[in-house]
Amino acid sequence: TENASTVQSIVERWREEEGPLLPILNGIQQELGYVPRESVPVIAEALNLSRAEVYGVVSFYHDYREKPAGRHVLKVCRAEACQSVGGDAVAERLEQLLGIRFHETSADGAVTLEPVYCLGLCACAPSAMLDGEVIGRIDDEKAVDIARRARA
Ligand code: FES
Repeated sequence: TENASTVQSIVERWREEEGPLLPILNGIQQELGYVPRESVPVIAEALNLSRAEVYGVVSFYHDYREKPAGRHVLKVCRAEACQSVGGDAVAERLEQLLGIRFHETSADGAVTLEPVYCLGLCACAPSAMLDGEVIGRIDDEKAVDIARRARA
């Protein structure tokens, strides 16, 4: 498949380098938008690692997706400064409005909800990022607006 040959060429590009695993995973995620489960054994074999080791890294870093993302990606800050000013309630509200939990994509493929740990917007907490656009001081009204855009 096309994915398999993309994975193969990224693996080839990095396998002889020092510390190749993260660059390979980054490359795959960048090219495909996620790290397909089928790429794990390919990477493991090329780098002489076990599948469990490779899979452990993929699942440890929240930045790696295991499935293709939705049309919109909403990242909600779950770090401390945001939490201290109501970030948990905002996160819950957004889950409720979108009908999905963190790390999920809505069934219609509209939106993927992901946590992020500080967007550098602590002064305007609680904050989130929708398709790369940062949004601060999220109150209920803004949450509703974010959800509306994310479901479009
Ligand atoms: Fe949320 Fe910094 S903690 S933006």
